[in-house]
Amino acid sequence: MRIVLLTGPGGDAQGWGDMKVTDSMREALESLGHPARIAYVADEAEFFRLLDRRDFDIVWSALYHITPNEAFIGRNAAGTWVADVMDERRIPYIGSDSRTMRAMIDKFETHEILAAAGVAVPAHVLLRPGDDASAVTFPAFVKPMCESRSVGISDESVVHDKAELRRRVAFIGKEFDEPALVEEFLPGDEYTALVLGNGRTRECLPGLVTVEETHYHRYRILRSDLRGVGLTRISLAGARTEESRAICDAAAEAMGCLDHVRIDMRVDRAGRLRIIEVNGIPGLKPHKSWAPQIYTLYHGSPEGEEEDYRRLIGAIAEAAGRRYGL
Ligand SMILES: Nc1ncnc2c1ncn2[C@@H]1O[C@H](COP(=O)(O)OP(=O)(O)OP(=O)(O)O)[C@@H](O)[C@H]1O
Ligand SMILES: [Mg+2]
Repeated sequence: MRIVLLTGPGGDAQGWGDMKVTDSMREALESLGHPARIAYVADEAEFFRLLDRRDFDIVWSALYHITPNEAFIGRNAAGTWVADVMDERRIPYIGSDSRTMRAMIDKFETHEILAAAGVAVPAHVLLRPGDDASAVTFPAFVKPMCESRSVGISDESVVHDKAELRRRVAFIGKEFDEPALVEEFLPGDEYTALVLGNGRTRECLPGLVTVEETHYHRYRILRSDLRGVGLTRISLAGARTEESRAICDAAAEAMGCLDHVRIDMRVDRAGRLRIIEVNGIPGLKPHKSWAPQIYTLYHGSPEGEEEDYRRLIGAIAEAAGRRYGL
C-alpha cells in the first residue's frame, strides 16, 4: 500500500504534528513494508498537482483544510477541505470521511450530534459577540468553536458572571474570528481515549490525564501553557475504564469515526463523564502525544516504545487499507 503523508503549513496546528513527527510516521510505515513519502503542500495548487499525479494508493492527511495559517485551525468555511476533495475524486484516505471530519472540527456540531444520539456532553451554547446569553448558567467555560492544543484556553476561560462571559466571547471573536462555544464548567477529572480500528474490531483505550497539582493556577484545566511541554501524564483509567469505554464507543458510532480518533472527556459536577471533543487527527508524536502513550499502556511490547509506535501507526494505516481492500 503506497501511502502519501500529506502536510503543509497547518500540519502542526491542525494535525498530528510537525515535520519531524511526519518523518517518524514515514519511517514506521516504510519499516512495515508500506512505501511512504511526505508531500508538503504550501497551497491549493500544489495539493491539486499532487492528486493529479496519483502515484500512490492512499492519502494520510495532517490537514483538515488547506490554509497558510500556521498558528491555529480557523474556520476556513469557504476553503478547500481535504476529505471533500478525496470524496469527489474517489481517492482512498486514512481517517474519517468528510462529513465526520467537518463535524469533529466544529465542537458545537459534535455536541449536537452526540446529544441527539444520547451520548453525554456538557450543556452548551454557541455565542457571537452581542448574542443573548440568558441561557448560560455559571460557572461556564468559554472556548473557540474549532481549535485544538488548548489554543485560546487559560484560567480566563472560566467565567462567573455575564460581564466576564461577554469579555471572553469578545476575546474569542477578536483573536480567532470564531464563535465561542460556552459550556457548563466540568470540575472533575479529565480522561482521553484512543479509539482504534473499525466495526467489531474497534477498540476504545481510555486513559486518565493528570498534571502535577503545583502547575495548576486557579483551575484544574489543561491551559495552553501546560500542553506540549511534557507536563501532562497519562495513566490507566482505573474505576472509570468501563464507563469511558462505553461512552467513547457510542460517540465514535454516532459520529461515524473511522480508523482512529482521540476522544476527550471530563467529569461533571454530578460525577458523570461527559465528552468534550472528538479529535479527528490526533497528535502522533512518538513518546509524547497521548495516542502513542495510551497505545503503550495497553499494548506495550517487550521491545519498547519505538516498536509500540510502529505497531500503532501500522494499525491505523491497515484499518484504513482493509476498508478499501488495499
Ligand atoms: N467544559 C469544560 N469544563 C472544564 N474544563 C474544560 C471544559 N472544556 C475544556 N476544558 C479544558 O480545556 C482543555 C482544552 O479543551 P478541548 O479539549 O475542548 O480543546 P482542544 O484545545 O481542542 O484540545 P485538543 O488538543 O485535545 O484537541 C481540556 O483539555 C480541559 O482541560
Ligand atoms: Mg482536547
